[in-house]
Formats: sequence, C-alpha cells, structure tokens
Amino acid sequence: MSDLTYESVSAALSESVKEKFTTEHFLHLEETGSTNDDLLNRIRSGTAKHLDLIVADLQYQGRGRRGDRWEASSGRNLLFSIALKLEEPKETWCRLPHLAACVLGSSVESVLTGEVQLQAKWPNDLLHEEKKLAGILVETVLVPEPFAVVGIGLNVNMRADEFPDELREIATTIYELERCESSRSFLLGEIVSGFASGYPNMLTNFSEVLDWLEARSVLSGRRIEVVTTEGIVHGIGHGLGNDGELIVDQGDSGLKSILSAERVLFR
Ligand code: BTN
Repeated sequence: MSDLTYESVSAALSESVKEKFTTEHFLHLEETGSTNDDLLNRIRSGTAKHLDLIVADLQYQGRGRRGDRWEASSGRNLLFSIALKLEEPKETWCRLPHLAACVLGSSVESVLTGEVQLQAKWPNDLLHEEKKLAGILVETVLVPEPFAVVGIGLNVNMRADEFPDELREIATTIYELERCESSRSFLLGEIVSGFASGYPNMLTNFSEVLDWLEARSVLSGRRIEVVTTEGIVHGIGHGLGNDGELIVDQGDSGLKSILSAERVLFR
C-alpha cells in the first residue's frame, strides 16, 4: 500500500483545513497518464470541488510546460494536481502560477532542516543552487465552471543518479539537500494546507507573494535571454511587476514587461 492515504496526508492538518479538505477531496492513484488530465476531465464533467486533489505514484504521460515531459521514478516524488475554483475577478488569474510557487516553496522550506532558502525562477520554477527542485503547470477550464488545475511535480526522494543523463546536472531533489528521505504524505499535507489557507486571499493580497518571490529570484540582476512568442528579449532581470510579470532592463531600450515566455536562459 502507498504511503499516500487521506489519513496520512491529513494527519497534521488543522481542524479548519480538514473541514475544507475531506476524504472526498482526495484520490490516490498507483499510476495514471497525467494527474492534470484526470482533474481537468473531472472539472469538465461538472463533478469537481474546490481543493479536489489527485496524486499518483507514477505518471506515464506527465506533462510539463511547453509540452515537455515530466519524468519521475515510481513512488519517490510527489506528482499531484489540485483544483482551485476561480471566483476572484479574471484580471487576477494571471497571478495564480506565482501564488502556487510561493505556497509550494514556503511549504517545502518549512520542512527543510536549517535555514535553507529556495530560489524562484520566473514564472514558477523552484530551484536549489540553480538546479530544478519543482515544476508547476497551471491550466484553466471555463465550462461548466471556471477552475484552475495546479499540477505540481516536486522531487522528493529520488536520488540524483536516478535522473536520466540529460537531467542529472540541472535537477535536484529534497533527498539530495537533506541526505535523508522525507515523508511525502507530510509534505503533501503542508502544501494542501498552504493552498487551503492562502487561496484565494493571496491573489488579492498579492504583495506577500511578490515579496516572497523577489527575495528568492534567480533572475534579478542577471543577464538573461527571454524567448517569447513575439521574439527574443535580452537584458538584465529587473524584478517583477504588480501581477508577477517579468521586468527586463534592456539598457538604452528601457524596461520591458513580459507576461509569458517559452524559455528564460542565463546569458
Ligand atoms: C514544468 O516545470 O514544466 C511543469 C511540470 C509539472 C509536472 C506536474 S506532475 C503532476 C502534474 N501532472 C502533469 O502531467 N504535470 C503536472
């Protein structure tokens, strides 16, 4: 039996979070194509509830941003998707990926020993010493009701030598930071608790999210190349705008505000 049961995930949750996140909100699958796809389908069928969560031990079609694949060995990491009802004004929805990075990163930092601070790479990657620790894929459904699916891949107990060659130098795991295994169920409980208490209020009180991200930004002050659908932007990372957009200092050409990008590279 998997270590990921409702009882183990909810064991350390406060009573107020347990009222919002009950056993009916939780589904564990030994394997699936993609937890994002499963939750998107549930939302489209009109049967989803706010904070519904699907977690899998193994995904065979795990999806990343830009159509990349998301790889993880069975039962080692956290691969899950959580449904958030979109009830705030539409103009605030673009803040959600940043809110998700802040909630996830704060939860992870709270379980790490010592004073470890993660790094945030716009738009919503979490890194440690410039190696990727977690990725977030946010997708929205408008009909029958507006919902967002926040899909999270968090590298927990995989060892560096289990990554395929092309990822070994650019990815890391909590095991590699801590040199011991972490409880996936406790971690998942912390993250659920972060969403249950932080969403949607942090969408409107967004300065808390911006402050958290700015303090950890790996792009600020660095020479970067941002590949967007409208072209390539070169400059120095200059922090975040009010909605979490990336500001790039292009020197004589001034500041450029970027809402979304295909890729951000250090130059
Ligand atoms: C990225 O950094 O490209 C985002 C990766 C998101 C991966 C997670 S794993 C759980 C959920 N289901 C998916 O198919 N993708 C997300």
